[in-house]
Amino acid sequence: MAFMRPLRIVLTGFSGAGKSLVAPLVAQRLGWQVVDTDALIEKTAGRPIPEIFARDGEPYFRGLEADALRSVCAQARAVVSTGGGVVLRPDNRRLMAQGGFIVCLEARPETILRRLREGAEEEPVDRPLLVGADPLGRIRELKESRQPFYALADHTVHTDGLSPEEVAVEVVRAWRRLSAAAVSGADRLRAMSGTLVTAAASVPPGAACVVHAPSGAYPVFVEWDALFDLGRRLREAGLTRQAYLISDATVFARYGPQAEAAIRLSDIPVDSYAVPAGEASKSLEVAAAIYDWLVDHKAERGHAVVALGGGMVTDLAGYVAATFARGLPLVHAPTSLLAMVDAAIGGKVAVNHPRAKNLIGAFYQPRLVLADVATLRTLSPRELASGWAEVIKHAFIADPGLLSYLEENAERILKLEPEPTAEAIRRSVAIKAAVVAQDEREETGRRTVLNYGHTLGHALEAATGYGRYLHGEAVAVGMVAAADISRRLGLLTPEIAWRQRRLLERFGLPTSAGGIDRARIGEAMALDKKVQAKAIRWVLLEDVGRTVLRDDVPPEVVEEALDEVLS
Ligand SMILES: NC(=O)c1ccc[n+]([C@@H]2O[C@H](COP(=O)([O-])OP(=O)(O)OC[C@H]3O[C@@H](n4cnc5c(N)ncnc54)[C@H](O)[C@@H]3O)[C@@H](O)[C@H]2O)c1
Repeated sequence: MAFMRPLRIVLTGFSGAGKSLVAPLVAQRLGWQVVDTDALIEKTAGRPIPEIFARDGEPYFRGLEADALRSVCAQARAVVSTGGGVVLRPDNRRLMAQGGFIVCLEARPETILRRLREGAEEEPVDRPLLVGADPLGRIRELKESRQPFYALADHTVHTDGLSPEEVAVEVVRAWRRLSAAAVSGADRLRAMSGTLVTAAASVPPGAACVVHAPSGAYPVFVEWDALFDLGRRLREAGLTRQAYLISDATVFARYGPQAEAAIRLSDIPVDSYAVPAGEASKSLEVAAAIYDWLVDHKAERGHAVVALGGGMVTDLAGYVAATFARGLPLVHAPTSLLAMVDAAIGGKVAVNHPRAKNLIGAFYQPRLVLADVATLRTLSPRELASGWAEVIKHAFIADPGLLSYLEENAERILKLEPEPTAEAIRRSVAIKAAVVAQDEREETGRRTVLNYGHTLGHALEAATGYGRYLHGEAVAVGMVAAADISRRLGLLTPEIAWRQRRLLERFGLPTSAGGIDRARIGEAMALDKKVQAKAIRWVLLEDVGRTVLRDDVPPEVVEEALDEVLS
């Protein structure tokens, strides 16, 4: 089949590189239309970009920019001139790359400064570059931090010493010379939409870690009394216009006023909505009621949703944030241990369908996560233990250091002493964050390791109607079974299986389950989503920190392990 050249050329590059001057000249030569994302943003918002920046902050502007890019990237026979920062978001880069030929216009910092001073190009967003004592230094610094993203372009034109006409000729020439290999292939798209770890994405002061999800990086704060900082953290993230606090009635009664006060202290208006506590609130009906409330409050892009509560709330509020107005910025303030180490990290948001849990959902990453460890003091001991099951799971699948830490500090952690408790949670969060960064959407299989203990765990929950076991309790029993299978297959030493059982018991977790209908367990395991090509895929353990996926476990080995834990 003949190669079809892309019918869109996207110009990227730093302010002053000449994009908005060159774009119409390229369009003229090809007989195409020209679109400028900055102009489109101003037209849609009805305000100049510097005003949007000043009033609503950069994150809000970047949201508008992503919308503008989405609409221009749907057009063919178009030359697109983009803003200097558009390359920062992986989603934007992917959009530009799909069906487009990306050309970066390069220029030396000295050339850029001269052009901006001469007003040779209207680049309203980066006008502040010229303010201050050392504009050249600022240009150098900002340009250097963005360079890895500009370098992903399909072609680069060095514009120093060239007129806009000459640059346009170069761009058209490069487009005409294009080969199929240059703009197709999964590698190109993958490279474009991957996360680049830059200095800008390094861990901010006070954060436990940064989750480098391909769709965006965000910090996680894990501190005793962190809720007092909620307003400050929102402000640091540029979420200053309006916050909608969503919680459940139990959590709101205890922590709602404190969270609201912290937000207001940073001069951010806040309104709150509390749903009844319990899994039944994780429904489309409750989500619809929250949509109505948001509409009544005239919620709009740039306003933030703050989820204050356990995993039910972070899932529900996250789902609402992901879908309302095609996405409001989301902040998680988890108050249960399970939400801190699991539900709030990783971007899975959902509500339940009457026939299946978490069936209606999305991948939608928060802008930041703020876990106040002090809130765990009011969590019920059972809920707390259930959360520790996930922490212990993280230790066994990924971190011998965390395992030793838990073993050495169990007593202090069980008493919720602030420092060891926060430290154990921080380490656990870091493990989930690392896995999510490698497999945000469960595409590569890397995220599957988190399902350790879940094959039997899910089946136990389902077979007992989700009423008898908390999730972590069922996972604890599932971990014992998975370790037992690993041991029977000769993968794992009995000592490690014993260490796991002992630690689960110390944290108040069950390691066996009696009175269970075995037939229902079998049915539930067969129905579970981890069944691949009719074989159950088990996440097994070879050592602390080393998992293996096996879908060839002999049924009799599974039966023997089930005999052991379901006695
Ligand atoms: N998105 C994900 O990746 C993910 C991962 C794991 C679990 N989940 C979801 O998380 C939910 C389970 O999370 P959960 O166990 O936190 O449930 P939950 O949110 O229902 O909280 C459990 C109970 O604890 C109460 N509570 C929470 N924090 C409290 C505090 N600090 N003090 C006193 N009471 C408090 C709640 O009101 C509730 O009654 C499920 O819906 C599950 O599907 C999601």
